[in-house]
Amino acid sequence: MAHVDFPPCRLVSWPEIDRWSDLIAEKVRSASWNPQVIVGLTRGGWVPSRMLADRLGTKHLAALRAQHWGVTATPSGSAELTEELATRLDQKRVLVVDDITDTGQSLQLAVRHVADRGALEVRSATYLHISHSTYMPTYFAEEVARDAWRWFVFPWNYWEDLRTLAGKVRASDGMPAKEVQRELKARCLLDVPLSHVERALAPL
Ligand code: ADE
Repeated sequence: MAHVDFPPCRLVSWPEIDRWSDLIAEKVRSASWNPQVIVGLTRGGWVPSRMLADRLGTKHLAALRAQHWGVTATPSGSAELTEELATRLDQKRVLVVDDITDTGQSLQLAVRHVADRGALEVRSATYLHISHSTYMPTYFAEEVARDAWRWFVFPWNYWEDLRTLAGKVRASDGMPAKEVQRELKARCLLDVPLSHVERALAPL
């Protein structure tokens, strides 16, 4: 389902991100748990980790580089951590954050890595959790049924996704932007303004 050229997409808005951040922060707080360190998986978990650090008042924020999805809806083989954490996490309570658990592999690897760095307790959080994921985060804002799978176009990936998908639906270089816009909607359920399609099609 994630291997299709024209994934059904869902645009995610900033108000949703705010709401999901509030929801997760509330779940963490009501578990009477507060992380001393937040580790955000890059790139998808970078913004979410910052949002949660702000809400939970966590000053120590670290990034862990994970790679699984090459470009939009295209897995790059199996998940891997491509850079290790520079810091030790001895005796720390650590929250590992990503935007979504889809296969669950990246988060699982990250949690294991953080434990190997000496953490006392590791919990994890994602905004969205797809029910087919082999790994369930400790906290998530919304569960997505596996047959409701979508490629979620997060605000921090908007232009990258649009460039990739516009490039795929464009049958030829001369295809007018208006037609590309129509194809994006028909094939990918992606309803975006014409000016955005034009921008996405322009060379970088
Ligand atoms: N990263 C992994 N799975 C994803 C999905 N379904 N949507 C957006 N980003 C993802």
